[in-house]
Amino acid sequence: MKEKAQTKCSLFICSQNVISRVEESVFGSFVEHIGRSVYNGIYQPEHATADKDGIRIDVTEAVKELGVSLVRYPGGNFLSGYDWRDGIGDKSCRPVRTNLAWKEIEPNTFGTDEFMKFCEKAGTEPMMAVNMGTGTARDAADLTEYCNLSGGTYWSEKRKANGHEKPYDVKYWCVGNEMDGCWQMCAMPAEEYGRKANEAAKLMKFVDPSIKTVLCGSSSSKSPTFPVWDRKVLEQAYDNIDFLSLHTYYTYADRADVSDFLASPADFDRYIRTAKATCDYVKAAKKSGKDIDFAVDEWNVWHTGSEYDHTENWTVGKPCLENVYDYADALCVAGLLTVLVNNSDRVKVACLAQLVNVIAPILTSESGVLRQSTFYPFREFSARCRGLEAIDAVGYVPTYKSASYGDVPALYKSVCYDAEKGEYVCFFVNPTGGAVQAELTFDRAVSIAERKTLKGELHAKNSFENPDCVSIVDKQFTSVKSASQKVELQSYSFEIIKFK
Ligand code: AHR
Repeated sequence: MKEKAQTKCSLFICSQNVISRVEESVFGSFVEHIGRSVYNGIYQPEHATADKDGIRIDVTEAVKELGVSLVRYPGGNFLSGYDWRDGIGDKSCRPVRTNLAWKEIEPNTFGTDEFMKFCEKAGTEPMMAVNMGTGTARDAADLTEYCNLSGGTYWSEKRKANGHEKPYDVKYWCVGNEMDGCWQMCAMPAEEYGRKANEAAKLMKFVDPSIKTVLCGSSSSKSPTFPVWDRKVLEQAYDNIDFLSLHTYYTYADRADVSDFLASPADFDRYIRTAKATCDYVKAAKKSGKDIDFAVDEWNVWHTGSEYDHTENWTVGKPCLENVYDYADALCVAGLLTVLVNNSDRVKVACLAQLVNVIAPILTSESGVLRQSTFYPFREFSARCRGLEAIDAVGYVPTYKSASYGDVPALYKSVCYDAEKGEYVCFFVNPTGGAVQAELTFDRAVSIAERKTLKGELHAKNSFENPDCVSIVDKQFTSVKSASQKVELQSYSFEIIKFK
């Protein structure tokens, strides 16, 4: 796009213009059996920082700092060939299997009970996924029983015999993963999957009626069958399903065009709007009183290419899909987070995919843990938005033409209101190569109480040698109390401004 000297936006911000509460579960993440996510990631018994359970404490500390409310597990594509029974009980008796999704060896030394321990140590909630590829409705109900029943039945007693007296009370359950994708083990047509998922969810709810189930929507908004797949699976499974899953990953169409890449959040917003319309169509057609909400249970920036692929097949815990993110990637993640907050009326669960090493905000090495550029926007949104009300900041925002997504906003913004403190927390991402002037009109006189910004050069990356090239830092400000506030947002920037 052409450089612009000054772009002007005007926004009206009123605490009564509420979109919805931003659920804690929107700040989730995802751990799959792939590459160095589990093995040599969160689980590395021989590492200096590992505890008696083999979990790396430097990793759990970073996860706590990131503010991860929930973690989806164990996949991902891995899920569709996984027998959860292989991963419980005496480790010396667990079978070594093939991980067909990623051409790896699965030693099964980390399974459901180890994952629950990880969640406890990392202060996060488990979100489980059941296999709808090679797995059956019975297998799914049995895992629900293993996790959630207190005792007196075969699988709940097995859990107790394995040393876990109390049930795990897992609330969120994904019924399969990306079942529309030809790469998925035992992918199937929408009608078939919808029927199977409905029966599986029904059995799972027979076991524990309090659970919330997630139906596989299309694996991407770019899929040729989106949103027809979504309509068809909803038609089959509406009664036993609470959420539809959305998956989205963004990358460059053209590496030289950063503003095009940073138009991705506009595409994400359109994707959610189309999914809303699809769910609401099925609701109306079924004359149902029930709304289907969204679990965006895989979202992130993901750059592909041979440099990120496996170095060796049929190994355990070797690097795979290890993206090293830069400042521009962090801007994109911040923009995507504004979209999640602005759609909090329907997005009730979301998972940054993934958590450690594999397209992740946290990288590990033998020497320690690295916070990637994308770690920082996630941390700030999670710490500042959870449980607050998202406010619709209405007004005028100019657009620019992006090569991939057409006309898109020249500013991404989201606002949360803390009623107890009487504070507005505003998040701004300027995706353009010119400064943006935001003229804000509040419902009362306010002044700036805090201003922070993402520091770094456009393509700067954090590394183990230079871990702080991209991070969140304070920004100087002067402020006069008034209902009218003007802020200038520099080209390619992310800012958090608190008004009180
Ligand atoms: O997150 C990596 C992969 O992306 C997951 O296994 C799959 O669900 C998606 O295609």
